[in-house]
Amino acid sequence: MLGCLTFVAPFSPSPLLSLHRFSPLSVPSSPSGLLKFASRRFSVTATKAESLSTMAVDAENVGSVKRQLAHLFEVSLRTTVPSEPDVAPLVEPCAAKSGVKFGDYQCNNAMGIWSKIKGKQAEFKGPPSVGQAIMKNLPPSDIIESCSVAGPGFVNVVLSRNWIAQSLQRMLIDGIETWAPRLPLKRAVVDFSSPNIAKEMHVGHLRSTIIGDTLARMLEFSHVDVLRRNHVGDWGTQFGMLIEFLFEKFPNPEDVNEAAIGDLQTFYKASKVRFDSDPEFKQRAQQAVVRLQGGETRYRDAWKQICEISRTEFHRVYERLGVHLEEKGESFYNPHIPGVLEELNKKGMIEDSEGARVIFLKDVNIPLIVVKSDGGYNYASTDLTALWYRINEEKAEWIIYVTDVGQQQHFDMVFKAAKRAGWLPADDSSYPKATHVGFGLVLGEDGKRFRTRNTEVVRLVDLLDEAKNRSKTALLERDTAKEWPEEEVEKTSEAVGYGAVKYADLKNNRLTNYTFNFDQMLNDKGNTAVYLLYAHARICSIIRKSGKDIDEVKKNAKIALDHEDERALGLHLLQFSEVVEEACTNLLPNVLCEYLYNLSEIFTKKFYSNCQVVGSPEEGSRLLLCEATAIVMRKCFYLLGIVPVYKI
Ligand code: ARG
Repeated sequence: MLGCLTFVAPFSPSPLLSLHRFSPLSVPSSPSGLLKFASRRFSVTATKAESLSTMAVDAENVGSVKRQLAHLFEVSLRTTVPSEPDVAPLVEPCAAKSGVKFGDYQCNNAMGIWSKIKGKQAEFKGPPSVGQAIMKNLPPSDIIESCSVAGPGFVNVVLSRNWIAQSLQRMLIDGIETWAPRLPLKRAVVDFSSPNIAKEMHVGHLRSTIIGDTLARMLEFSHVDVLRRNHVGDWGTQFGMLIEFLFEKFPNPEDVNEAAIGDLQTFYKASKVRFDSDPEFKQRAQQAVVRLQGGETRYRDAWKQICEISRTEFHRVYERLGVHLEEKGESFYNPHIPGVLEELNKKGMIEDSEGARVIFLKDVNIPLIVVKSDGGYNYASTDLTALWYRINEEKAEWIIYVTDVGQQQHFDMVFKAAKRAGWLPADDSSYPKATHVGFGLVLGEDGKRFRTRNTEVVRLVDLLDEAKNRSKTALLERDTAKEWPEEEVEKTSEAVGYGAVKYADLKNNRLTNYTFNFDQMLNDKGNTAVYLLYAHARICSIIRKSGKDIDEVKKNAKIALDHEDERALGLHLLQFSEVVEEACTNLLPNVLCEYLYNLSEIFTKKFYSNCQVVGSPEEGSRLLLCEATAIVMRKCFYLLGIVPVYKI
């Protein structure tokens, strides 16, 4: 494809293919609906004078250039090939090919249409003539400056500078929220972090926490009601052992508290040693599980105490990371399991196999065990029930699970079972749907799983401490920061340190393993949070140094994009909305990171290098461009869970 970038991730339909579904104004379910839609839209955008103001009628799409262009092309397609009412417009930003760009956006429908109408419509002689007709039939619009047809019918669009400028100015006045994408769903569950009680949260949980929080933030920004679920492992046979050990150590339950127990992980290990070495203890532990499940008060109270101590530990990490979660642990679903399994049983899905109750699934060579041979439930019975609950009780339309790729098969099986049960449609592109967001391993310098020297798992709090301390040391090496009040130094080093850890994780495609390296992530050059946060602070200081009140400038100055680099910056800013939409629908935070990094590069290396701001005749316009850049950067930081800094 000529100068065109397409990106489709597994599980999700291409944002383009789903264009109809995404726009509330355009949900035609039938070809005739689509025609009616097209004519309505055509009448709306028919006259040039009207077009800009009526675009605002479609307030839902005000942020996305791609969608607005797609609407125009949709109108043209209906006129060009009325016989093919189902063809959706394919519009993508142009990528520079060997440094040359033929336009800002491109419509790539001509070839596809040609293959459908070949031999049927004499007026077209090949894809180029289809492209010409698509271009000719575009309704007049203030968005487009010029168009051209290239190669086999690609219609290239150059956007109007004025329109870009006006769109930016409007965002400055109405706020960046007006650029939020609109998604075709109301409620989602993001199941993330989800550590196990009495075991330390490890770096895998850190990845899940960071990735899940970003996905939740992007969905929330897109007006989706997000249930942020912490599906903690708070149930299972290990509790028998822990409870018996607790009884032994603290015969008086009042003596149990965090200080007395100390590190829960050490407590867990000690109880495991006891369990493995003393058959009598082991037997008591096994009975304790039964008594806990039977609901005996003494056992439930001990269980609650253990969970509570773990919870306090987890919260320390969440607080530092600024992550909010609502706990509904595995135990929450216990009362619902028998009913759900009964439903599946009635549907004829559950079979006996070697004493266990299982579900066999198409194209999977192992069965999904839902009742173990000892009659107990397991991870799968809980997850099936949780999925049922989220769809039917919580009415979530998209249920997203963030765990390492190692759990992919588990979720694949649970989703297949849900489809067989009719809870989810067979087709992954319609709602409700469930998606597993897998991620790779965190590696150490040696290329092996990230561990500390004594091969223990890495404690997250230690890791965050180190990130903060290192960034504090670097900060205090700067002359300016030496005079800062203590509190400001603390806040800034936390923002930079934790931001660095998060960004180092998020900037990679989540499916790949990534190497944890403090020196790299805390480098102030290159694609790091430190570089980006400093770039933002520098922009803020340009505005401060101008001595102008930016709210006044917004009222009195007008953005003009006469210089090529001003235009390049303006266009990139305007692409924020469609990038968030892509990152969010394909569940890929790295897409947003790449956008943010490019924004910073375009600002610094193009705009700021070649366009004098303070003291120039264009000062007002350029200050507004600085402000718009800072606003978009801050929204990116927010969506990535990074706290911005304003001063360095
Ligand atoms: N507790 C699990 C673990 O640490 C993750 C749970 C993920 N969520 C779920 N619904 N299974 O691996």
